[in-house]
Parts: sequence; structure tokens; C-alpha cells
Amino acid sequence: MSSEEGEDVLPKDDEILKTKKDKYKVITLLGKGGYGAVFSVERQSDKMRFAIKCEKSSAVKKVLLMDCNVLKGASQIKSKHFCTVLDRAAVKDRFNFIVMKLIGKNLWDLRQDRPDGRFNLNTALKTASQCLVSIEHLHRFGYLHRDIKPGNFAAGQKETNEHHIIFMLDFGLCREFVNRKDGKDIRTPRTSAPFRGTTRYAPLSAMQQIDQARKDDIEGWLYMVVEWTSGGLPWRKLKAQDREKVLAFKQEIRNPAKPEALDDFFYNCPKKEFSRIMKYVDGLNYYSLPDYQFIYFCIQHAASANGCKDSDPLDWDPDHPYSGPIETPGDGKVIDLEVEAGGDDFSKRKDSTKKDKRKKNEKDLPEEKGRK
Ligand SMILES: Nc1ncnc2c1ncn2[C@@H]1O[C@H](COP(=O)(O)OP(=O)(O)O)[C@@H](O)[C@H]1O
Ligand SMILES: [Mg+2]
Repeated sequence: MSSEEGEDVLPKDDEILKTKKDKYKVITLLGKGGYGAVFSVERQSDKMRFAIKCEKSSAVKKVLLMDCNVLKGASQIKSKHFCTVLDRAAVKDRFNFIVMKLIGKNLWDLRQDRPDGRFNLNTALKTASQCLVSIEHLHRFGYLHRDIKPGNFAAGQKETNEHHIIFMLDFGLCREFVNRKDGKDIRTPRTSAPFRGTTRYAPLSAMQQIDQARKDDIEGWLYMVVEWTSGGLPWRKLKAQDREKVLAFKQEIRNPAKPEALDDFFYNCPKKEFSRIMKYVDGLNYYSLPDYQFIYFCIQHAASANGCKDSDPLDWDPDHPYSGPIETPGDGKVIDLEVEAGGDDFSKRKDSTKKDKRKKNEKDLPEEKGRK
């Protein structure tokens, strides 16, 4: 099948999609990946807006069920940082889709909207805290994200008064790190794990094809937070395929003989607190339960030491005091969760324990504003 034919299967503007529960009219494209796309839709029974995430039936590895399972887990713990899934269906020989809460712009786009290409410290730290809490929630129900990056977090919609809440998105690369049948023990690490994720934010382990763990999601989170605060990472000009060079940069900032590399990395950042976090995360191993509360405390310390107040507004809503959540992460202890086994067709429910063979179509990030 040619790529044009492949595109043809995705929903068209104004197309009506039917499920057992309702009908949805396609409004606009919100984002597109190699396997499918995300659209805003209008529910026909009440004209309410939602988002649908579609996955082509031809996709080699089906991952939409992973999105679905993870979002179900999130609703079990009543986390406010995940979209609720309301409906799902398959359009035969074209695509499978889930219907979920519609949210706003992702954090990559929100940073690009800033004239200086970075968030102010208050925005970066409040957003960092919410993202950390969402990571702790995800880990609490037994999943690693493995693609922590600004495009996979978004603010809620202004229309629903959720634009101060950060939502975690995109669970296509998630992996369970516990054996659920086995008293929730940590799975034995694989001797080698194919690269997953996005070069710019990928933790050292992923780049060295070492099986990832909870600490690695936090390492990715730190690169993202430094990027928001500084306006750009030292390896920002390198492309996705320059993995070796990006790895060398990430190793250099950890070299005690190169303090200037660390200074450049933490340009414009609260260095004391951020280096404390980096040191702490670097000291963890595959089996470690990270102390999310300690990391959160470091972020709060950076905020108070720099005069950020709870009510200080976010960059994307400068005229209103912050009204988003101020919540401490939990202890990360894994809870029980009902998960649905994967299947080849989203409309059917089959038992399968197939390994994650999806090859992420990693795209280069667009040119960004910020540090040149
Ligand atoms: N529920 C949603 N509401 C609004 N926009 C969304 C929603 N889910 C995803 N998006 C947008 O679509 C983009 C791609 O979605 P994502 O789940 O990350 O899929 P992909 O695997 O293509 O990266 C996101 O960066 C975000 O901007
Ligand atoms: Mg994504």
C-alpha cells in the first residue's frame, strides 16, 4: 500500500463516525503520527466536543489498546492528569478509535508561543510539579511511559476551566514494569532493549539500549523541565538520528571534569535544586522506587527560593491567578489494576501477551525558538 493510500483511510472533515453509543462528526485534525492521528469531534446527541485518537487498521503494532488500558487505570485512581475514555469503535478496514476528553495545546506548542522561547520560572516549576505527579500516578498503576516529552503533555481547555491542569498523553510506548500475577514484583530486566522514545529527551538507559525503569521517566522529565526553563537544551541542534552525539552530550554534563558543560545545561535554571535532582536520579537503579516527594520538594524549594507564589499566573493565562492543582505526589507504591489483554483488532477482545514490537516513527522536532 502506498503512503497516500494509507492516509486515505483516516477520517475526513465532516465525516460521521458511528459507535454503539453515539455518532461523532469529525471537526479538525489536532495531531498526526506515523500510525494514525488525533481529531476533534462533535458528539451528535448533545453537540459536545471530544477528541478521537485513531490508529490505522494496517498499523503493524496496535498500540491504541495500550492508551485505553492506561487511561482506564488512571480513572481507577481518579487522577485529574489523564483524559477519560468515553467510547471506542472500529471502522472496518480503515481504523480503530477511542473517544476521549478534548484538551488544549500541548506543552511544546505552548512554549513555542512564548516570545523568548521559554517559560518563566513560575510556569516551568508549576508545570514540572504537575507532570511529576502525573508520572507518579502512571507508575502507581504499573506502567512506564518511555516517551516523556513536551508534545506528550497538554494543558486543559479554557472553555471547561481546565487550562491550569496539565494532562499526560500518548501511551503508545508504555510498558508494564511489574508482573501483575506475581505479587507485583518488578519484571526482570531484559539484557537488551531496542531504542524507544525521542532522542532529545531519552534517558541514558534508553540511548544505551538498557531496559528502562521508573527513574528513566524522571530523567526524561528533567530534560523537559530544563528545556522549559532555559529555552533549549545544549543538544537542541542535533537530529533524532544523531543519537551517539546526543548521548555524548548527556554524559558530558555528568563529567565532574567538565563543570562548564553542567553550567551550560542549567543555563537560567535554579542550579542548586536541579543538580540535586539529577544527582539523586542518577543514583537510582532499575529496581529503585523513586522518592517522588523528595523531587517535588526540590522543585518547591526552587520556587520559594526564587519568590514564586502559589497564586502566580501561568504564561498562557497571565491575567488570572493560578487555580490549578497544588498536590504532592504519592509514594509510587504499585496498586492492583484490571488490565485488558491486547488483540490484533481493536473491536475484538482477544488474549495476547505479544511483546511490544512497535517501531516508533521518530520525527525530528521542528526548529524551535529560544537559545540559539
Ligand atoms: N485528548 C486530546 N485533546 C486535544 N488534543 C490532543 C488530545 N490527544 C492528543 N492531542 C494532540 O495530538 C498530539 C498527538 O497525540 P499523541 O497522543 O501524542 O499521539 P502521537 O503518538 O501521534 O504522538 C498531541 O501532541 C496533542 O497536541
Ligand atoms: Mg505524542
